[in-house]
Amino acid sequence: MLLSLGNTGSAGRTQPAERAGEPARGELVWVTSGCGACHAFSKAGSKAPKGSAAPNLDRYLLPHARRAKLPVELFAFSRVYWGGRGMSAYGSALSEQEIDDLVSFVVGKPFSAPPGGVARVPPLPRR
Ligand code: HEC
Repeated sequence: MLLSLGNTGSAGRTQPAERAGEPARGELVWVTSGCGACHAFSKAGSKAPKGSAAPNLDRYLLPHARRAKLPVELFAFSRVYWGGRGMSAYGSALSEQEIDDLVSFVVGKPFSAPPGGVARVPPLPRR
């Protein structure tokens, strides 16, 4: 039998503009990376274990981004990429696409890292 795959004409569109992160894919990355083992985040249905040192993302992400003087998506990207006190860096464990997807999920809108990346945000003072 001859296998015809048909319709391959639209495959392989990989212009950079289409590489934007996607929240739905990011939720999968959240689960497979185990982010919910430390962070409470209601959108993911994640409840952090008692006494976890990781910020509850529903409550603290925005105020912490403000304190770091960064738009929330760049703050989240920096933390995921470089890590922080008590959080490992995911910059080499995950692909650029996975990190874009993850940040898109966390902030709730499509995100793509800027070409030069984002500088490391120093750990925040303890609450
Ligand atoms: C081992 C526990 C742990 C895991 C696993 C972990 N984190 Fe974190 N995360 C932390 C801690 C602790 C901080 C605070 C770091 C600091 O301020 O220096 C943090 C900070 C953050 C922040 C900034 C939040 C804020 O309010 O300051 C984001 C966003 C974040 N993590 C996302 C993620 C994502 C996405 C994953 C999964 C890839 C993940 N984390 C996995 C412990 C963890």
